[in-house]
Amino acid sequence: MSGVVTLTPAPVLDRTYLVASMAPGKVNRAVEVHEYMSGKGLNVARTLHLARTPVAAVMPIGRDDEHLLFRTPYPHILRIVPIQGRIRVNTAIVEDGGRTTNVNQSAIPMSTTDWDRVVDLTVEQIVDMDADWLCASGTHPFNSDTGDYVDMTSLFERAREAGARVALDTSGVPLDRLVPSGLVNLIKPNADELANLVGRNLETVGEALDAGRELNAQGVEIALVSLGADGALAISADSAVWGAAVAPQLVNTTGAGDATLAGFLGHSIREGSRGAEGGSVIDLEGGLTTAVSWGALAVSLPTTLISGLENAPIPTVSDPDPDRVLLEKTHLTKK
Ligand SMILES: Nc1ncnc2c1ncn2[C@@H]1O[C@H](COP(=O)(O)OP(=O)(O)OP(=O)(O)O)[C@@H](O)[C@H]1O
Ligand SMILES: [Mg+2]
Repeated sequence: MSGVVTLTPAPVLDRTYLVASMAPGKVNRAVEVHEYMSGKGLNVARTLHLARTPVAAVMPIGRDDEHLLFRTPYPHILRIVPIQGRIRVNTAIVEDGGRTTNVNQSAIPMSTTDWDRVVDLTVEQIVDMDADWLCASGTHPFNSDTGDYVDMTSLFERAREAGARVALDTSGVPLDRLVPSGLVNLIKPNADELANLVGRNLETVGEALDAGRELNAQGVEIALVSLGADGALAISADSAVWGAAVAPQLVNTTGAGDATLAGFLGHSIREGSRGAEGGSVIDLEGGLTTAVSWGALAVSLPTTLISGLENAPIPTVSDPDPDRVLLEKTHLTKK
């Protein structure tokens, strides 16, 4: 068994204010304030760590915020690149009864020098662990020197040269650009992200399957498509499986996609699937089984922190039913 290196290119400090009620434009008093380090790659890493999969979570953190690292679960899995400035903050104001107001800060641009250090540390971790996967999850920041998104291509090339497969979970322009690059082995779009990738709304499992196959044709080995309450699909050029699990309760769906991706990667590590270039075949069915089980567990918990995987629900896995109508409509955000 080797392991997974996750990269969170734009981590965030989640700050939650609990208030009795919220009056916009007035002074509001918080009963409690919670703060914790967050980010999609970090979520994947924490869940894999819980499953005893060897994992390292690379993140750039502003030098002014290093104290935060002492207040995060499993600090020993973190691999920090100190960069200039401060981490961004996402603020949630939660009222009694659960109504939530969010103010999210955009990813802070990063210099080429800082980004190169992030890439170097990530590759170093992959080599040190002889990792099976690099998992790049979450928002990509802008490069302050170029005014464009940070460039992931050299990172992905070097990861693959080191023998790792590349998993990517992001959205928007970076996802559009990287899918046809030939450097991505696995993507984990949700239904909206998949619809936007192919430029059309998806109404059935069959339409989601066809969209996934288009991505396979563009060079993506596996499309792990999460469909919310409709479960998930794992799609490769010559095989496809559908799975779903009944969530014990529906509390908070944020981070369910991260648990899903962790489940798929964790299973593949246990099974010993290896190699980016013509390497071993990945067990789609086994990976999807763990993925939907952990996804359904995640939605039953109040935060993105999973404290134990023992009670993850047992999923149903089968051939995809192309006629199944998706419970939620997809939304195209561009064009
Ligand atoms: N209502 C639900 N009931 C049961 N399982 C659910 C539900 N919503 C989500 N899940 C599980 O979680 C997985 C991921 O959910 P979803 O497709 O919403 O991910 P996502 O939009 O990428 O989430 P995020 O980006 O916030 O982590 C689903 O594939 C499914 O297994
Ligand atoms: Mg997601």
